[in-house]
Amino acid sequence: MEWVRIGASADFTGRPHPVAVDGVALVVLRPAPGAAPVAFADRCPHRLVPLSAGSFEHGVLRCPYHGWEFDASGRCLVVPSNGPEAKVPPRADLPPGPPLREADGSVWVDRAAVTPPGPLDLLSNVDPGLLRAWHPVALLEELPTTARLLGREWSLSTVDGVVRADPAPYAVGVRWGLVWLAPLEPRTGLFDDPDAEDAAYAGAWLPPSRTGVSAGVVADNFLDVAHFPFVHAATFGAGEERVVGPYDVTERPDGCRSVQVQWFDNPGDPGVAAGLRPVRQRRRATYVHRAPFQLMLRLEELDAGAVKTILFFAQPESAGSTRIYTKMLLHGIGGVADPSPDVVAAEVAFEEAVLAEDLALQARMTVPGLPLRPRDELHVRADRLGVALRRSLIPYRTLS
Ligand code: FES
Ligand SMILES: [Fe+2]
Repeated sequence: MEWVRIGASADFTGRPHPVAVDGVALVVLRPAPGAAPVAFADRCPHRLVPLSAGSFEHGVLRCPYHGWEFDASGRCLVVPSNGPEAKVPPRADLPPGPPLREADGSVWVDRAAVTPPGPLDLLSNVDPGLLRAWHPVALLEELPTTARLLGREWSLSTVDGVVRADPAPYAVGVRWGLVWLAPLEPRTGLFDDPDAEDAAYAGAWLPPSRTGVSAGVVADNFLDVAHFPFVHAATFGAGEERVVGPYDVTERPDGCRSVQVQWFDNPGDPGVAAGLRPVRQRRRATYVHRAPFQLMLRLEELDAGAVKTILFFAQPESAGSTRIYTKMLLHGIGGVADPSPDVVAAEVAFEEAVLAEDLALQARMTVPGLPLRPRDELHVRADRLGVALRRSLIPYRTLS
């Protein structure tokens, strides 16, 4: 045994406490005041999010992303999306961490027992396989500009109304007010979006944002249907179902599509205020993914009649940077067919608040890419879209 000091006893309070030993991230918990602290690898078995970003209350450690709960021995108590009665898969338990010792007001860890996590098979933002795809690089209104993509730079300009990129890529194009660039011949095209071409829809872009996680992780977050009650509790998530029922995913080699009917609270529906409908309503959510990082979510309120389509595109700029473009397409919001500019502005502001919640979670993530090998994570029933995403991205991964 080789004991190394990791902090003063007083540092280890009721909160999950992150510690790094020889570059290995650990989370340290003190199960109760005066109880001996315990340590685990700082990584949720589900999506590898640091558990130190979660909460620890009444002896229960809860992951911030999908709310999986663990006791102080590492046993997983519940996977909320599977339901409270469902059996928890054994692989959901946290492997035992290194022994700790508390003496003379300090906490020590046995360094010899600190094992680095095994290597992951990741799709990073600079994988050369991603050269063979369409990527968003700027809003048309941002030109002229310099765009970063896959760790390289392109100058973008408009010459006689035509968008040009330098150095010359395989192709450059404009769609939905966004400039797209394919460095090499793309494996697949841009997807269709009928709502974007429909005059009955009012459209507006959110200001582009940036995140430090990879475009694959951004796409996975967008397709994830189980994180709403935990990540989005302050915006729309509090009224969302925790249990995700079985749903179908139609897979194609270059992407997937899924239609799900969900229950949600709709306090903004004027029909609720007028007593015509209950606040608990049904919504049809259609997810569309086209590889590598084109995404769409169409939300149809089946009782109130409003439709909200979100186009969502990720630009893998460099190893540690992804730019995100989000466009809202709105119809029938608040019972009015054509949303007024005020309504559009309010919807955009709301969507920005929702995105900020995802970005705050992503800021805590540490894995530099999207794991593509099934055994590197633990997929559950709610993750069918994420599994389909990973499968469609395998051709973009250059095996090293
Ligand atoms: S519950 Fe931890 S990442 Fe999903
Ligand atoms: Fe989210």
